[in-house]
Amino acid sequence: MKTANLLNVLMAIAVVVLSIRLIMLATTEKPTETVNHSEAVINNIMTRTSIRDYTSEGVEEEKVETLLRAAMAAPTAGNKQPWVFVVIKDKAIQDSISANFKPAKMVRKAPLAIVVCGDLNKTFPEDGVTYWVQDTSAATENMLLAAHSLNLGAVWCGVYPIPSRVDYLKKLLDLPDNLVPLNVVAIGYPAENPAPKDKWKPENIIYRN
Ligand SMILES: Cc1cc2nc3c(=O)[nH]c(=O)nc-3n(C[C@H](O)[C@H](O)[C@H](O)COP(=O)(O)O)c2cc1C
Repeated sequence: MKTANLLNVLMAIAVVVLSIRLIMLATTEKPTETVNHSEAVINNIMTRTSIRDYTSEGVEEEKVETLLRAAMAAPTAGNKQPWVFVVIKDKAIQDSISANFKPAKMVRKAPLAIVVCGDLNKTFPEDGVTYWVQDTSAATENMLLAAHSLNLGAVWCGVYPIPSRVDYLKKLLDLPDNLVPLNVVAIGYPAENPAPKDKWKPENIIYRN
């Protein structure tokens, strides 16, 4: 009887020790993971920079899909998702963009270009119609950050609101009236390594505490 009691006590101690060990493991490991994840995300944002020169290596299809998934994960007014993405790997189209549109001359060298378009048939109604510009801009930034995290380099080449650029691209890509190109994003593996710009300017902040 005495031996049975002793065994019970020992078992109880073992269970308590094991539980404490499990709790300690859970509380020590989780925060480390969270910190590493946050650091990785913030680091990706802070080290992204525009890349305008690319190697000839093509962008893998899985990566193209990841870029598009990241773009479509962006927030939009009323969750309207008023966009269409034109994926371009056609050299003749890329050459035409570069030749006609100096600030986008790097498009010719990029193995991939994605034109982010607003879809006026899907926009927020009435006063909120031009939310499409903010929605597609958010999608573009997601794409740039995703590209950077995949070791790709990318640059946003502005199109909208410059009418000559919008008209030119609409014709070149044979877009219907409801689609308005916001930009051309040139994407490829970087052939340059510019330092990210330090844009932290406390004078650009207003506090109302
Ligand atoms: C609306 C918009 C239009 C832009 N248009 C061009 C462009 O036509 N050509 C270009 O080389 N870069 C263009 N850029 C990229 C900016 O030049 C670049 O983001 C800026 O200089 C800051 O540099 P960073 O991206 O390396 O931080 C554009 C960026 C934005 C947001």
